[in-house]
Amino acid sequence: MYSILKKIFFALDPETAHYAALKSLDLAKRSGLSRCLKNQPLRPVTVMGLSFPNRIGLAAGFDKNGDYIDALAELGFGFIEIGTVTPRPQPGNPKPRLFRLAEQQGIINRMGFNNKGYDYVVKRLEKTDYRGILGINIGKNKDTPLENAIDDYLLGFRTFWKYASYITINVSSPNTPGLRDLQHSDFLARLLCVLKQEQHAVFLNEKKHVPLVLKISPDLTDNELADIAEIAIREKIEGIISTNTTIHREGVENSPYAHEPGGLSGLPLFKRSTLLTSRLHKFVQDRIPIIASGGVMDTRTGKEKLNAGAQLLQVYSGFIYSGPDIISQLALMD
Ligand SMILES: Cc1cc2nc3c(=O)[nH]c(=O)nc-3n(C[C@H](O)[C@H](O)[C@H](O)COP(=O)(O)O)c2cc1C
Repeated sequence: MYSILKKIFFALDPETAHYAALKSLDLAKRSGLSRCLKNQPLRPVTVMGLSFPNRIGLAAGFDKNGDYIDALAELGFGFIEIGTVTPRPQPGNPKPRLFRLAEQQGIINRMGFNNKGYDYVVKRLEKTDYRGILGINIGKNKDTPLENAIDDYLLGFRTFWKYASYITINVSSPNTPGLRDLQHSDFLARLLCVLKQEQHAVFLNEKKHVPLVLKISPDLTDNELADIAEIAIREKIEGIISTNTTIHREGVENSPYAHEPGGLSGLPLFKRSTLLTSRLHKFVQDRIPIIASGGVMDTRTGKEKLNAGAQLLQVYSGFIYSGPDIISQLALMD
């Protein structure tokens, strides 16, 4: 079934195809069709104190505004991460900003955090029926100076703790100028410390513990990674998503899109991202659970992520290239 749909979607430009796919899913949900097909693969795991029905999640960026949570939930994901959301709405970069590297099973995107802002997303969250594990991925607006970036993240935590199973701090998108500088140790230590204090305050006042998850870049040097791991351990960060997209172009040099600026994901990201994940695991061992993202395309790549030390997996490009079947295949693999 997906192979037919894929032919149709892949004939469209990638961004049009993305929304066409989401709208079709939404229609299937509203008409009750997807409920008949509903199949939640069950392999429960507990990570970060949360009970996941299975360890396969949808990565951030697919449903930036939380418009399609209920429709996506019908597909059987063990968890869904929405966002990245920024305090104020912003249009993102000019189009075209999304490129399909079909031969290499890769994607290059420079979306630039196009999203409708915190207020809109709260309205969507108020309406969802979804009661599964929901991650909310927060970032800063493009025009927020780096020195004020902490305010954007703090507002994000304050806005979303009520709705989130966990909150992801995105400091690793390559498409917001300067954002990845927030991974530098001085800034990161301050950012995480402030968010931890807020997390603690929410726990004391509201009796809800909302795990904080840090999403990192695959392009970090070993020293940078060691610094980040040390800070994350010191601040008792509950999870790390390893990794976001890469600015490198290994494995896609021959693609006509290789020169397009942006973050590369999918199979060409797998090696770099998995190497970083195993290095990260050596630093953090079992003190911080790792959520692997980056080139999970099938059970082979999924297993390698687990062997590298991951406890949960997220898919984005693999979902585009293989369709919804990838969820149960990954969830049920040994
Ligand atoms: C079109 C597109 C948009 C994305 N937007 C975001 C985003 O807003 N926030 C984020 O943290 N990651 C974003 N990502 C990164 C994915 O969440 C994921 O970490 C990355 O694509 C690697 O996984 P994959 O190889 O399975 O695609 C985006 C990826 C793509 C392809």
